[in-house]
Amino acid sequence: MATLYGNLQGLKSTHTKQIEQLYEERLANDRFITPEFADQLAALSQLIHQPLCCYVNRRGQVVRVGVGTPMQTRLPDSELPRRSGDRFSGIRCLVAQFHPPDASAFIAMLRQRLDAMVVLTLADTKSNKALIQHSYLAHLAPDFDQPWQVETFPLQSLFEQDADELIHDWESDIQDAGFDLLQTVQSDHDRALLVGLQTEKMSDRRFQDSLDELSRLVESAKGEIVGVVQQKRSHPHPQTVIGHGKVEEVTLEAQRLSANLIVLNQDISATQARNLEEQIGVRVVDRTQVILDIFAQRARSQAGKLQVELAQLEYTLPRLRGRGQEMSRLGAGIGTRGPGETKLETERRVIQRRIGQLQQEVNQLQAHRARLRQQRDRQQLPTIALVGYTNAGKSTLLNALTQADVYVADQLFATLDPTTRRLTITDPNTHDRRDVLLTDTVGFIHDLPPALMDAFRATLEEVTEADALLHVLDLSHPAWEQHLESVNTVLSELPAIPPNAILVFNKIDRVDRSTLDQVQQSYPDAVFISATDRLGLDRLADRLMQLLETLTVSTPIHT
Ligand code: GTP
Repeated sequence: MATLYGNLQGLKSTHTKQIEQLYEERLANDRFITPEFADQLAALSQLIHQPLCCYVNRRGQVVRVGVGTPMQTRLPDSELPRRSGDRFSGIRCLVAQFHPPDASAFIAMLRQRLDAMVVLTLADTKSNKALIQHSYLAHLAPDFDQPWQVETFPLQSLFEQDADELIHDWESDIQDAGFDLLQTVQSDHDRALLVGLQTEKMSDRRFQDSLDELSRLVESAKGEIVGVVQQKRSHPHPQTVIGHGKVEEVTLEAQRLSANLIVLNQDISATQARNLEEQIGVRVVDRTQVILDIFAQRARSQAGKLQVELAQLEYTLPRLRGRGQEMSRLGAGIGTRGPGETKLETERRVIQRRIGQLQQEVNQLQAHRARLRQQRDRQQLPTIALVGYTNAGKSTLLNALTQADVYVADQLFATLDPTTRRLTITDPNTHDRRDVLLTDTVGFIHDLPPALMDAFRATLEEVTEADALLHVLDLSHPAWEQHLESVNTVLSELPAIPPNAILVFNKIDRVDRSTLDQVQQSYPDAVFISATDRLGLDRLADRLMQLLETLTVSTPIHT
């Protein structure tokens, strides 16, 4: 007996057997559906009180039966006949359900290039007898904005339609228009549709900033943003984050814009992700997954890869239930890359064991870094850690000050591995010279995912163990005040931070005079620089010299 697909949870075995009987049916190949089959499908759907889909080939054989909506039960690409993009797959889908068909059903039809879709809607009654209220016939059409057409049909005339002839005509329309059905659903890179939920806790400004940041994150993960959908709700919807109507809108937008990825500005549970994916038919990720993906793409050193894998697994473990299958079905891209990707589908136990191993390796890394620091301590050189929001210009500043060759890019989280360089500062008045070690660290961001905070503890320890901090801020960024606050929040979550810090406002070459004056007045102790244009670096050296005087570590002076 062929297997059933879709949502089989809670299905009685007697019901399962009855539904499996559908595989035995043979339909007339020149009819969309026969009266007997319509009754049988409707009765079974009524029996389990769930949508039921039957996929039938051109010979009238039932090739797939699924419990759930067309999107939930659709055939994966690998099981569709390989044909050119202007031809149908030779399979039609017969559906019995309690709601009129929505966009996600038609998108499922498009994805599978179905010959047609027949939807029978049933009266939602407690009665055992199914009552077919309406019947719809949908098919694909060569219109880029909405490549399908739907008509309601009296059931009787639906039974009488010549399916062969109509399918042939529709396919010819597609071919005559030179319309490529495959192209409308495929894309070789992530085309992301951002979905922003503004809860009552979020001000308009904060919400807008969070969307801007999300855009930057997606772009840094090499995704293209094709659109944004927003919703205001007091709380996230427990099942789908956004409301039902919005899910429908997102489904249509995703189709219209050929998006193959939905990115939410909120953290989502595995169930919410699954519900959304089933309804929209496109992979759904949250902000944390985008950040983890960027980390996965950027990790270069062994230590970096190790920490990224740990972060990915720690994020995945609590979300493991029932996601493995969907992830593989929905393909690769943002949120699926990196050293952890092959592990995502393995069992919880295996993942737990791997996490244990990785934790140990990170502990060893911590110990190794601690030894390095001890060696540095023996050299009696004070250490200053560069901290700051991602993309603030920390690596550029380190390069400018020490001629170190640290990777600089206009991307979020360009640097993952801490780089330590020796810097010699000369006092402009006395010409005394002092050596100091400068360490570049991973960029910060607001709400740094906890899994990352834990995994990157060895890197963040460079901050806790430093003698002082250089907090670099991008003054040209409209949300710099929030960045300042976010970095301070992350710092406050670390077990310890050095008591001394210099606030460095960077990128002053990109701000106007009056903004600069204003901020200078508000932050009289800060230093204002442009790392790229080498502005204000003398003043920074001055401040560093003053700071070194106050440090308890005795720093060797050479004149
Ligand atoms: P993460 O690795 O993400 O933490 O970033 P980062 O803080 O190390 O920033 P990075 O030095 O990589 O610089 C980010 C971008 O800002 C790069 O495109 C730099 O060229 C640019 N940038 C850095 N400093 C300045 C500056 O003073 N002026 C201008 N205009 N651009 C700058």
